Amino acid sequence: MDEGTTRKIMDIVVKPRDVIPEEGRTLPAAYYVDPRYFDREMDRLFGRMWVAAGRTEAVEKPGQFFLRELLGERVIITRSTGGVRAYYNVCRHRGTQLCTEASGTFPGSIQCPYHAWTYDLDGRLVGAPHMDEVPHFRKEDYPLQPVAAEVWDGHIFISLNPVPPALQTQLAGLPGKFAPWRMGDLRLGHRITYDVKANWKLIVQNYNECLHCPNVHPALNRLSHYLSGENEPLQGTYMGGRMDLRPGVDTLSMNGTCPRAFLPGLTPEDRRRVYYYAIFPNMLLSLHPDYMLVHTLWPVAPDRTINICEWHFHPEEMAREGFDPQDAVEFWDTTNRQDWHVCELSQAGISSRGYRPGPYSNREDLLYAFDRMIRNIHSGEHP
Ligand code: FES
Ligand SMILES: [Fe+2]
Repeated sequence: MDEGTTRKIMDIVVKPRDVIPEEGRTLPAAYYVDPRYFDREMDRLFGRMWVAAGRTEAVEKPGQFFLRELLGERVIITRSTGGVRAYYNVCRHRGTQLCTEASGTFPGSIQCPYHAWTYDLDGRLVGAPHMDEVPHFRKEDYPLQPVAAEVWDGHIFISLNPVPPALQTQLAGLPGKFAPWRMGDLRLGHRITYDVKANWKLIVQNYNECLHCPNVHPALNRLSHYLSGENEPLQGTYMGGRMDLRPGVDTLSMNGTCPRAFLPGLTPEDRRRVYYYAIFPNMLLSLHPDYMLVHTLWPVAPDRTINICEWHFHPEEMAREGFDPQDAVEFWDTTNRQDWHVCELSQAGISSRGYRPGPYSNREDLLYAFDRMIRNIHSGEHP
């Protein structure tokens, strides 16, 4: 997969339309149930783009690590004195998996459990028992296989693309747009991992429309009117928009009050809004006046997606006596579960032989644009 192909995928910009044309219908079932479609999306999106993998906070000190599974690969994400590093979890001796813990701290080096080949945190092979007896063997020829890793304001992205474009290319205007939230300063307050029996695209699509809010999320709709705010046109690598808090509501929490200070650096307008951005392929970034909610999606099958949801807060608020994120956690945990429920109902219905693509409304223009982008990824290959 060369850089040209990657750029081609990332350069697809499909503009939403004011009025949905007659052919503006949901995708055929195969896009949600056929493993061949799933594999193509994994290869062409998740295998080539930058994928949001976690936070620098989890690898603050050299040697701290965590694993992420992507396209069946278990990737080690760690830190050396030089910065965040990622490696395939594969020993260069006889291929053994090096690391089995989901997270932890390496004692300054990474040692294979089989014959004790040892790598430093920059991936260099520094110990290879008995190999000094082999005249043609040179340690420098066997570093750990790197996986590309870059950081955006505290978010770690990895890419299995051996020649990925700069992360900045994928993020386009987002770093400037979201700089006032100072996301790199925020710290994890709570994490819930959900196992959703639905295709990853249904979760992205559901995230990007709120026509379902009055029915599915009455509590959310009481705090933020479902038709408030506005969407940005779909970009090549992300889509999103904002919704406004209703008068008298300070944030999205169980009762709409905000027991925390607003994030420093926000304008008065941004303190009245929540921004919802799906950054393709796997990050859902929701910025509130006083906290950040991040979902990362990890598809495991056409009809199953692991969804890691994290609530991040300002460290000064977290240090306050009695800090309790429960108002925000409970609000979104309830809302999340309502969302996953309808995503699972969609998956089940789309899997039925009774399913036919259905018409979009004008207010589902982002979804129709997203579908056209997905169609482009599969173009020329049917099924
Ligand atoms: S397979 Fe890792 S040291 Fe032998
Ligand atoms: Fe929803």
